[in-house]
This record gives sequence, C-alpha cells and structure tokens, in this order.
Amino acid sequence: MDWGLRNRLSRVLRPEDGRTVMLAADHGYFLGPTHALEDPRETLRPLIPFADALMITRGVARNCIDPTTQVPLVLRVSGGSTVAGADLADEVITTTMDDAVRLNASAVALSVFVGSAFEGQTLGNLARLVDQGTAVGMPVLGVTAVGKELEKRDARYLALACRVVAELGAHFVKTYYCDGFEDVVAGCPIPVVIAGGPKSGSERDALETAYQAIRQGASGVDMGRNVWQSAHPVPMLRALRAIVHEGASASEAHALWQELSRVPQPTAV
Ligand code: R5P
Repeated sequence: MDWGLRNRLSRVLRPEDGRTVMLAADHGYFLGPTHALEDPRETLRPLIPFADALMITRGVARNCIDPTTQVPLVLRVSGGSTVAGADLADEVITTTMDDAVRLNASAVALSVFVGSAFEGQTLGNLARLVDQGTAVGMPVLGVTAVGKELEKRDARYLALACRVVAELGAHFVKTYYCDGFEDVVAGCPIPVVIAGGPKSGSERDALETAYQAIRQGASGVDMGRNVWQSAHPVPMLRALRAIVHEGASASEAHALWQELSRVPQPTAV
C-alpha cells in the first residue's frame, strides 16, 4: 500500500486499535428522504463529533456538511438505481475519482451485488474503482449489498461476497452480521465492518449485534438507521463507541445509552 493510501485509511480505521465507528447516512441515494434523514444537515450535526468517519454521497457533502468539518468522509460513489426502479442491483459508478479527491474523501465506497443479475456489472465497477483509487492513493470500501433479498444474509453467502470483494482489491469491506460471522471474517484478508440494517426492535438488540460482530473479529461498524432512527441518537453512537473502542459489553453499552439518554448531550467527544 502506498503511503498516501495508508494515511487516508488510517483516518477511517483508527491507528490506535485499527477499528472504526462509521456513521452511515448515504441511504437517500436509493431510498430518498427516509425517516429521520429527511434533513441530513440537522440529523447529522450533533452526531458528527462522535463518528470516526461519515459515509455520505457528494450531494449531501456539498449541501449539508460544513466543509470545515474534520470528520473523514467515506464517499458513496455507486448508485443509479432506486427502490422505485426495476432492480436495485443495477448500479454504476456515479462519482469520478477526481471529484472524490476534490472532496478530500478518505475513502470511496461502492456496492456489489454478488449472485444478482448485475453481479458482473457491479464487480466490474469495483475492479475499475480499485484501479482508479490505487492511482491516486484512495482506499476503496466494497459493500456486499443484498438489495431486497434479505435472506441472503447468511455466512456462506456473505463469506463468498466478502472474499470476492477482497480478491478484487478493495481495502476494507462492509457486510452484515450473521450467525457464523467468524467464518466470514476468517475467509476475508481485509478488515470487515458491519452495517446495521433496518432499525432493530430495540437499542439493546442493535448493541448486541455490534458487540457480537466485534467479538467475532469485525473491525468496526458502519451503522445508520439504528443510530439516527433511535429515540436518542447521540447516546446510541456513544454506546457503539464504547463497544468498538473501549471493550464494553452489550449490557454495559446499553446501560451507557440509558444513562446518556437521560441528560442533554454535549457536542464534542
Ligand atoms: C447501504 O448500502 C447503505 O449504503 C448504508 O450505508 C448501509 O446499509 C448502512 O446503514 P444501515 O446501518 O442503516 O443499514
């Protein structure tokens, strides 16, 4: 890895422990103004000080995020399909590497849809993005997306998808937590972070998922809905930090969430 690429990656995966608490807020690119993210500026403002990195599109970066922010950006650069269209997997690269550099992104992120009708197209997108990223020192996050086929979230499928993402040269991968998650991590030679998925029934459930993922080898989380759709988003993000960076159990993190939810939150770590 070139120095510049390693330097960028270390802004996302913290050098102290190699882990990250990313805040995912790129959902509008295929979901539109989804619940609690109708106004990204307002939703994200109090959360940014507690995120190791922010995963957004260039449109939200330019329109909703203060450019003096110090939070590293993981720029979503794939898209082109929405929930209103025929197939969510029909994605293309939507942002040039030049624009990612102009936005001072610390990494770029792109979805692949392994096993879908667009498998070849999206894996080709990833391979091209890795070539473009390598040329300028930009790390690539491969996202193992499943579209509407949520039943694909089992260890056999996710291990295949994560390994393919690594083989094509991505520098880290985002996938889902599943039973047998340690096998997904064991078969993947790059750091694995987990998405949260739709809002869990309770904060305790989402924290348990994060805890189990970390215990089984994940390098962090990249959660969105379980944070900003929580009744208390800042305490939720801080509880996730306790799991990822401070070794807290799910119970300890949940107790922290309850405690922080009772008091107004400061806006800096
Ligand atoms: C999906 O690929 C989206 O890009 C989100 O970044 C990802 O799903 C993580 O967000 P959530 O925790 O809400 O699932």
